[in-house]
Amino acid sequence: MSFSTADLKNAFARRATGVTVVTARAGERIHGMTVSAFAEVSLEPPLVLICIDQSAKTHALIEEGGVFAVNILARGQEALADRFATREEEARFSDLECESAATGAPLLAGCVAQLDCRLASAHESGDHTIFVGEVVGVRLSDGEPLVFYDRNYRGLSD
Ligand SMILES: Cc1cc2nc3c(=O)[nH]c(=O)nc-3n(C[C@H](O)[C@H](O)[C@H](O)COP(=O)(O)O)c2cc1C
Repeated sequence: MSFSTADLKNAFARRATGVTVVTARAGERIHGMTVSAFAEVSLEPPLVLICIDQSAKTHALIEEGGVFAVNILARGQEALADRFATREEEARFSDLECESAATGAPLLAGCVAQLDCRLASAHESGDHTIFVGEVVGVRLSDGEPLVFYDRNYRGLSD
């Protein structure tokens, strides 16, 4: 079964995922990026994972600060997903309603769930790193999650 990089990308695009913004803090510096490669790992202890491109600026901040928060986006937050995937570093948090989690990682308003995490381990894998976080805080809100499928944002009913 031979395949090209385009085949691999197309196969990945056929998996429906939620959309998160992963935020990080190191000292006074904050940053964040849109991430779909998020998964549950364990309930006891409570662990989650994210796969982050080693060239992403957020990658360096997670390594440095040792904390991150996973903000699970709600339907209607497509612009936020685009902002955290494309906008310049300085513009990502401008005019945004945010508060700090216990770890210091930024929490974005309007998300359906938020997980505040301390970095438990990091595993380099290809051009990404799998960061495993121990969940130290959870916040839940009502609402429908944003779904990403076939390179488009959708809702559960689409
Ligand atoms: C829907 C969507 C999902 C994404 N998922 C991931 C992901 O799981 N891991 C990753 O490393 N980049 C992912 N990206 C790309 C990053 O969000 C993008 O490269 C970002 O600009 C990196 O920001 P930074 O370099 O400022 O940290 C995704 C982008 C979009 C639009």
